Amino acid sequence: MDWRSGPAGPLRGSVGVPGDKSVSHRALMFAALADGASHIRGFLEGEDTRATAAVLQQLGVRIDAPADGERVVHGAGLHGLRASDDPLDCGNAGTGMRLLAGLLAGQAFDSTLIGDASLSKRPMRRVTDPLTAMGARIDTRDGLPPLVIHGGQRLHGIRYELPVASAQVKSALLLAGLYAEGETEVIEPHPTRDYTERMLAAFGWPIAFEPGRARLSGGHVLHATGVDVPADFSSAAFFLVAASIVPGSELRLPAVGLNPRRTGLLEALRLMGADIRVENEKTSGGEPVGDLVVRYAPLRGVELPETLVPDMIDEFPALFVAAAAARGNTVIRGAAELRVKESDRLATMATGLRALGIQVDETPDGATIHGGTLAGGTVESLTDHRIAMSFAVAGLVAQEPVRINDCRHVATSFPGFMELANGCGFALGVAD
Ligand code: S3P
Repeated sequence: MDWRSGPAGPLRGSVGVPGDKSVSHRALMFAALADGASHIRGFLEGEDTRATAAVLQQLGVRIDAPADGERVVHGAGLHGLRASDDPLDCGNAGTGMRLLAGLLAGQAFDSTLIGDASLSKRPMRRVTDPLTAMGARIDTRDGLPPLVIHGGQRLHGIRYELPVASAQVKSALLLAGLYAEGETEVIEPHPTRDYTERMLAAFGWPIAFEPGRARLSGGHVLHATGVDVPADFSSAAFFLVAASIVPGSELRLPAVGLNPRRTGLLEALRLMGADIRVENEKTSGGEPVGDLVVRYAPLRGVELPETLVPDMIDEFPALFVAAAAARGNTVIRGAAELRVKESDRLATMATGLRALGIQVDETPDGATIHGGTLAGGTVESLTDHRIAMSFAVAGLVAQEPVRINDCRHVATSFPGFMELANGCGFALGVAD
């Protein structure tokens, strides 16, 4: 399915973005391993998180959906999962596959994790190597999915210093650590999102953690609990950029998750001159949340501080669009991880923006984006959901419509994006 996004605006109104993807995946997994029934509210009804729910159901977990955005997970207990005869399909979800790899490494039975064409190209050694060091046995296809996980191994804790900052790898090791003898300790080169640590504590598992470091031992029990999932900052990001670059805009984004390991884009946009306020700050389900109020403001290019990169790792496609619409140059460094996301996001954004008339100089770990006027044109999303939505934002300020090819995966993270976008003033539709 291709999209067409035309010049439009100003953007006005209140935009309620769906639940957080990272939190939704984890809530399902911990609830599945807990004793008792856990009620999840604000669950992301995305294809990625539904794929994780389906995998857990295949492993024998009962999951009810009493309403849209709600799940009741009847925990099977730490040792209550059952083998599945069929492969477990994670769809497009790297988070699903990597976290499940850690969870399944500790089971008594064998499992096979598969994914779609995009996920089948994503590197898995970053999880299988340290899991192997813990005693797991996992076969890959040259470091790529499918993952064949041999159960019945005795896992032991390790102390692991992550070579790259990755919440997925950290979480996979902590999940395996639940089943390991002794202590599992994970040390990060830069702190990443800590939902796994916070949620393990909420489910009653003893865990010591601080930014950049987490430590737990096997042999405890997870107790069912309620989980309130905040709205996903990464989904709010498209609207933060859109309202910042379309003159006359003002949008309110209610109750967005503001975990500091996720809000790097807020700082980046403010450095560029954006007008974004946080109102009604509170804590919900142990997470900081607040309403984001964003008004149009002329943006200027910046040298992005490298320390912000892990805190905005999913927001670079949106940032590229903000940079293209800004006055002057924006320089990104230290972001090589973007090359192994749902697409090579440095290359995909650089190619797409060039097709719209913006000069982008790509480097191995970043890019310089020369702000200017976006013409119309055709861009490829390469089935990457965040690339598709970012170019929908670009269309708002282009001189002619932007055609975005292959947007079928937007619902992995943001079901209903088109309706919400059009509801606040986008001119977005399916292309002929
Ligand atoms: C995620 C971690 C990040 C992020 C992904 C979600 C998570 O990936 O890009 O969208 O939920 O742990 P990495 O750990 O590979 O950086």
